[in-house]
Amino acid sequence: MNINIFENSELGSQFVAEQIQALIKKKTKLTEEVILGLATGSTPKELYKKLVSMYKAGEISFEQVITFNLDEYHPMSHDSEHSYHHFMNQIFFDAVDIKAENTWIPSGEVEKAQIESHCREYEQQIVDVGGIDLQLLGIGTNGHIGFNEPGSTIDSVTRYVELDEQTRIDAAAAFGGIDNVPRNAISMGIDTILKAKEIVLMAWGSGKAEIIRDCLFGEITAVKPATFLQKHPNVHIVLDREAAALIDVD
Ligand code: PGA
Repeated sequence: MNINIFENSELGSQFVAEQIQALIKKKTKLTEEVILGLATGSTPKELYKKLVSMYKAGEISFEQVITFNLDEYHPMSHDSEHSYHHFMNQIFFDAVDIKAENTWIPSGEVEKAQIESHCREYEQQIVDVGGIDLQLLGIGTNGHIGFNEPGSTIDSVTRYVELDEQTRIDAAAAFGGIDNVPRNAISMGIDTILKAKEIVLMAWGSGKAEIIRDCLFGEITAVKPATFLQKHPNVHIVLDREAAALIDVD
């Protein structure tokens, strides 16, 4: 794994924004579409702001970009302020030139009986566009990536999941109390993530230091799903000093 440590999250986010810019330039020159796997949460917020600034400065275009988000709560109205649909529209999609029909997010609105086929279609849509070129990830304090909670297996695909207690605790403040945090979600699987050609995992702050150490250097185990990233040949880990505090890198 390639580990990049920055003084702060702003510099780390700038680095990732420039990686995305370079990928878009390279592929669009060949008139190819660019397939990005996107993450939500607090970690990628600065990155999206940087990408919006680059767009406004005429330095990047998302006209040939297709995106697939990792996950969405279920049930969850797309209009809810807590939905990842709302998050993505507000912070990124509405502010750039991406085509709405090119932005895919698992739906929190599908009926329970339709979830399985919805998940199969989501996987198929990724396959149909040729797979994800670059997958962005944050990491949960319990080692989840997407909503692949502890216990998620390496062969898991997009599916209905139960949220881990720690995940619900971590989300409680944003929802105004743990009782308001959904118990379920739809998430890409570990296998879906590992099929991406390139993966960029970002982590900021001391709260992530322990799980970063364990996931980068610990035993590969479903107990900490991010450890499965050790099996991928092209992973970039982007950390600030605090998140990197417990790892030795020369
Ligand atoms: P955060 O969440 O970015 O809000 O820390 C990361 C995650 O749970 O994947």
